[in-house]
Amino acid sequence: MAKVTVIGAGNVGATCANALAFNKVAGTVVMLDVKAGVSEGKAVDILQSAQTLGFETNVVGITGDYSATAASDVIVVTSGIPRKPGMTREELIGTNANIVKSVIENCLQYSPDAVFIIISNPMDTMTYLTLKASGLPKNRVIGMGGALDSSRFKYYLSQALHVNPAQVEGIVIGGHGDTTMIPLKRFATYNGIPVSELLDAATLDKVVADTMVGGATLTGLLGTSAWYAPGACGAYVAAAVVHDYKRLIPSCVYLDGEYGQKDICIGVPAIIGRNGVEKIVDFKLNSEEKALFEKSANAVRTTNNIL
Ligand code: LAC
Repeated sequence: MAKVTVIGAGNVGATCANALAFNKVAGTVVMLDVKAGVSEGKAVDILQSAQTLGFETNVVGITGDYSATAASDVIVVTSGIPRKPGMTREELIGTNANIVKSVIENCLQYSPDAVFIIISNPMDTMTYLTLKASGLPKNRVIGMGGALDSSRFKYYLSQALHVNPAQVEGIVIGGHGDTTMIPLKRFATYNGIPVSELLDAATLDKVVADTMVGGATLTGLLGTSAWYAPGACGAYVAAAVVHDYKRLIPSCVYLDGEYGQKDICIGVPAIIGRNGVEKIVDFKLNSEEKALFEKSANAVRTTNNIL
């Protein structure tokens, strides 16, 4: 059975650990935090739901001791501060870059073969930083943002269509930022039917706009950033690695010429399996999408340059 570690037992990390346990993704889930008692308490709370919910995953909470994470197959990094209302994800870079860098170093000491899933913000830059600071092969570092942005896109599409979200498909590429993400309306479908056949252009544009500020809308309501969907999406990507599902997941991955970009981590459709990024699906964007992707890559690069 696989071992998955979640670094950070805040809202996103604990929700991710809970989803990993509940969905039986791993035999052991380790949750590590710097705040004494938080991960221990949340781990016991999750375990006390095991009998009721019917899972047998062992969940371990640890304060600061990375030796407990040894030999993890997958490590999900959620550490850092979340944004407050009115803040962009990019504004978190100063604090979170240092935290993420030391987390990765500590994790690699004990799990040199792990695949890393990055959730900490600004997510594209934290994914790039993980790759550069660790020297890991590019297939072993995956940023989670595209899975989350795509699920928000599908949610807003289902609301506009008044249909079951499970029958809606759609992907979001580009950066995980309010102005950098690109919901690909041309490829969105309702049970195989292009949504452009079912929604007028203005409605579809509103779906795209709502998706782009999906995280900010929740931050405004909650006073901090969202956690149920971010945590669940982290577990969804981890499951694809652990079970070698080879799921096509829009993910923040390192590009080396794909989509006309080099030396950047940004969201594109990728096949995720036991090796992490198994393949980047490099399909042809039209000129409008291409221009948006270039603009998005430039914005992500600007944030990377602050590192
Ligand atoms: C969000 C944060 C987790 O989009 O990036 O909710």
